[in-house]
Amino acid sequence: MGFEHTSVMPQEVHAYQDLKPGDICVDCTLGGSGHALSTVKAIRPGGILIGIDQDQDAIANAKTTLHSYKDNIRLYHNNFSDLPDILANSKIEGVNSILLDLGFSLNQLTQSKRGFSFQKNEPLDMRMDTRNPLTAEEMVNTYGEKDLVEIFFKYGEERFSRRVAGAIAKQRIIGPIKTSDELAKIVAGAIPKKFSSKQKIHPATRVFQALRIAVNQELELLENFMAKVPSMLTKGGRISIISFHSLEDRIVKQSLKNFQVGCTCPRGLPQCVCGFVPSMKSITRKPVIATREEIDANPMARSAKLRVAQKL
Ligand SMILES: C[S@@+](CC[C@H](N)C(=O)[O-])C[C@H]1O[C@@H](n2cnc3c(N)ncnc32)[C@H](O)[C@@H]1O
Repeated sequence: MGFEHTSVMPQEVHAYQDLKPGDICVDCTLGGSGHALSTVKAIRPGGILIGIDQDQDAIANAKTTLHSYKDNIRLYHNNFSDLPDILANSKIEGVNSILLDLGFSLNQLTQSKRGFSFQKNEPLDMRMDTRNPLTAEEMVNTYGEKDLVEIFFKYGEERFSRRVAGAIAKQRIIGPIKTSDELAKIVAGAIPKKFSSKQKIHPATRVFQALRIAVNQELELLENFMAKVPSMLTKGGRISIISFHSLEDRIVKQSLKNFQVGCTCPRGLPQCVCGFVPSMKSITRKPVIATREEIDANPMARSAKLRVAQKL
């Protein structure tokens, strides 16, 4: 199974990372290892790249793709939420750069056979880490109708959440929904034609996004991780985050804003009692987006937003 290299905004990420030989860096989301390759080249001689992915396929691919740089690389088949422990166990107090390129890889979408795409007929799995117990199939077939409504609305911003959950509940009385194709057809059938025919995206796009986010607990893990970022960076170290939809970007934007909050004491107090000091500053005032040429060559770049911040 060949991995395709379609890193989003490679030049922009590289420029903002501001790497130098000897740096210690983390790529939290190796995917096809495109960003990792350019990172490890920039930190030699002497640097270390800690590469993480929760998908075993990405780790296997990284072993091959990054083989020539193996002395500078440590690979971890983990969730990036494990990074504080990985650093502590490696006796690393802080790193110069952390990269998060969120969401799923092209390989997961087109090759993994885990039902990430509504355009394929595959088992409804959607786990990025197949060691986790909960699959999309279990969610769709065993969760209460109300819970499904909430998942589709909260994680997919699907306005027809109730109709879709209702159609699923009806269908699963007849028999379990087992494949991505079956689910895509049920969703498409539940959304009124006059709305779906006007939209540029497939009618099942939002529901598939919602299930993937819920199965992989993507937003909770991102929010928890972001809160710990300043404690993992050295002074002057940078975090670069690429997000692909507004739910992710909102968490990233809010977290970066929180790091910049200084003293919140009421004016006129003789001295600060709140203890708040800014821990990071934003390097990108507005999110960086891909160029038209990149989007034409790689449509996945269309919704990407890059934000970068630096530890003070
Ligand atoms: C968009 S791809 C990364 C592409 C990569 N930067 C490249 O250049 O090819 C996202 C990757 O992040 C991984 N991933 C997503 N959430 C994760 C998490 N919480 N922990 C570890 N890996 C995660 C996915 O398995 C996927 O391989």
